[in-house]
Amino acid sequence: MKKEKILLTGGTGYIGSHTAVELIEAGYEVEILDNLLNSKIIVLDKIAEITGVRPKFYEVDLRDAEALAKVFAEGKFTSVIHFAGLKAVAESVEKPLMYYEVNVGGTINLLECMQEYGVNQIVFSSSATVYGEQESPKYVETMRVGGNLASPYGRTKYMIEEILKDTATANPDFRVAILRYFNPIGAHTSGLIGEDPNDKPNNLMPIIMKIAAGELPELMIYGNDYDTPDGSCRRDYIHVVDLAKGHAKALEKLSQGKQIQIYNLGSGNPTSVFEMVKAFSETSGKPLPHKVADRRAGDLAEFYADSAKAEKELNWRTELTISDAMRDTLNFLEKRKNGRA
Ligand code: UD1
Repeated sequence: MKKEKILLTGGTGYIGSHTAVELIEAGYEVEILDNLLNSKIIVLDKIAEITGVRPKFYEVDLRDAEALAKVFAEGKFTSVIHFAGLKAVAESVEKPLMYYEVNVGGTINLLECMQEYGVNQIVFSSSATVYGEQESPKYVETMRVGGNLASPYGRTKYMIEEILKDTATANPDFRVAILRYFNPIGAHTSGLIGEDPNDKPNNLMPIIMKIAAGELPELMIYGNDYDTPDGSCRRDYIHVVDLAKGHAKALEKLSQGKQIQIYNLGSGNPTSVFEMVKAFSETSGKPLPHKVADRRAGDLAEFYADSAKAEKELNWRTELTISDAMRDTLNFLEKRKNGRA
C-alpha cells in the first residue's frame, strides 16, 4: 500500500510537533509547513532526534497563496492536518482583523489549494472555545456552538468549522475531522519538545513554566470566588502526547464513516487552578509562588469534555495524568536550561 503523506500546517508548533512525532512513529510520511511566527526551526532537529526522521519543511505563510500552491504541487499529499493559526485570546480582542485574516483567510487559501490539487481529507485543530457558555459545563459534541463566544479568536475557530462543513457539502469527496481540544499541557517524555512559544505567555502552564524558570515572580490566580469546589476555575487539562495520538486516530477514521466528524479531545475530568499549583509543586518538590488576583474577563467557571464519542468511535481516551504532564514539563524545562531542547 502507498504510504500516506500528511501535510501538517503549523507543524513546528506545540501541538503540531508532538503530532508529527506520533504520526512518524505510526508509519506516516510527514511534511511540515510553518511561518515560524510562534515556533522555532530547531524543532525539526528535535523531531529527527526522537523519531530518526527529519520531516521535509516549507517555511510558508498560509496567506501566501502562490507559495502555498507550490507546496501542494510538490507535495502530493493524501491529507492535511491544519494547526496553523493565531491563538492569543486577548490579542484577538485588540487585533480582530489580523485574526480573521490569518486564521480564516489562511484556511480559505489552504482549502482552495486542497481543491485544486485534489487533496480531500483534512483534520482541523478546533477548540472547546467554540461551545461558549452552555447550561452544563460538560460539553458534548451535539451542543449548539458559536453563540456567546468571548473573543474573535474563538469566532475564527467557529467560522472555520462552518467553512469546512460548507466545503464538504459542496464536494461529496471532501472529508473532514474537527477536533475540539480542551486544555493541552505537558511535553514529550524525551523532554526534547514542549510548549515554547515566542510570544508572551497567556495560558496557565506556560506562565507556570516561566515562574519555575525564574522568569516571572509569581502566579496570579484569576479568582477564588467562582462557584467551584475551591473557588478557582476548573478546566479539562490534557497531556499533549494524548492529544497528538488523538490526531493519529482521527486520520485513520477520516476515510470511514461520516463525511464530517467532530470530536472532543479531553480527559473528561476538571482540575482547578489551585489543584494545578499543588500538582506542580508536588512534582518539582518546590513551592510555586502564587497569589489570588481578580477574575480575568471572559473566563468561565468550569468546562470539561464529554469524551464518550471519541472513546467509542475513535477508540481513544487519555492515558496520561496531570502529574505525568508536570513531570514531562519539568523535564523539558531542565533540558532547555541545559541547551538540549
Ligand atoms: C484559553 C482561552 C481559550 C483557548 C485556550 C487555549 C480564554 C478566556 N480562553 O482557555 O479560548 O482556546 O486558552 O489557547 O482566554 N489562569 C490563572 N492565572 C494565569 C493564567 C490562567 O489563574 O496567569 C487560570 C484561568 O483563569 C483558567 C485556567 O487558569 O481558569 C486556564 O487558563 P488558560 O490556560 O488561559 O486556558 P483557558 O482560559 O481555559
